[in-house]
Amino acid sequence: MTEAIKSGDDPGARREFYRQLQAESMLPLWERLRELVPLTPGGSAVAARWDYDKIVRPHLMTSASLISAQQAERRVLILENPGLAGEASITGSLYAGVQLIMPGEIAPAHRHTQSALRFILEGSGAYTTVEGERTIMRPGDFVLTPGWTWHDHGNETDQPMVWLDGLDIPLVRFFKAGFAENGLRETQTVHKAVDDGLYRYGNNLLPVDWRNDRPHSPLVSYPYERTRESLDRLRKVDAADACHGFKMRFANPATGGYPMPTIGAFIQLLPAGFAGGRYCSTDGTVFSVVEGSGETHVGEQILRWKARDIFVVPGWMSHSHHATTDAVLFSFSDRPAQISLGIWREMRE
Ligand SMILES: [Fe+2]
Repeated sequence: MTEAIKSGDDPGARREFYRQLQAESMLPLWERLRELVPLTPGGSAVAARWDYDKIVRPHLMTSASLISAQQAERRVLILENPGLAGEASITGSLYAGVQLIMPGEIAPAHRHTQSALRFILEGSGAYTTVEGERTIMRPGDFVLTPGWTWHDHGNETDQPMVWLDGLDIPLVRFFKAGFAENGLRETQTVHKAVDDGLYRYGNNLLPVDWRNDRPHSPLVSYPYERTRESLDRLRKVDAADACHGFKMRFANPATGGYPMPTIGAFIQLLPAGFAGGRYCSTDGTVFSVVEGSGETHVGEQILRWKARDIFVVPGWMSHSHHATTDAVLFSFSDRPAQISLGIWREMRE
């Protein structure tokens, strides 16, 4: 027997060695290998659902009686994954919240390096202004406020306006790359026509001499009316995918890539009676139910959902969708970030 093997059999000597290492800010990889380099993805995020009518909306309305949108800067209730307590995250890399703007209120102009999306849940006619371009928001619209773009919101209607916020806050926090700035004025000067970008970039046309110098889509809004029309047409001519039904991704019209570098967004129609096959991918995904009702089976858990409910499926958790009525699901994840890093995977069962 060699000297090395003899010493390797002495647990007391190992413990003493580890203690000496710790004092020098060193540690033995072999004690941590499977935790640091797992055979398959893990993590403590869990599947969860938030009922809009019973839970989310009543709490939002209570918040409106306690603080104004101006006072709060953003009147948002964070949807925190129950497995990630204290992290203000819905998945390991993403944040989600529900934002309320009451009639007459303004959410003042600011910008930050975090990229954000809005998905409109309730109310119609309030505005978001991004870099001087205003869009009027309606339920099901998908609105972008990409990283470091000035944005403010306001509600000049007589109804509350509620949307889902999705941001890459945990990702930017990981990189320690968060910067933010408040505008000098509460509301930006609007210097473009309403939905200017939709006509310039969103009709299968691009300005002839335009070169995209930004890492995100030039569109501020992807209106639901157009999205829904595509889903309607596709269901008439295509067979449903076994796992996804009729699923499309939102695209940057200048590149064909995802709308923002860190967040991808998707829309899918599940016909009444659809019973999807099991699927998983490494990007934990947040779903917002646009229309209809059904349930999603995640591992052994069943999440029942209906219009405006929000639910999360963590990364690499096998799940399947089942629709009671015709249903439309919006979803978002960090897929473009994972793809650009070369780590994204998916699996069908
Ligand atoms: Fe913001």
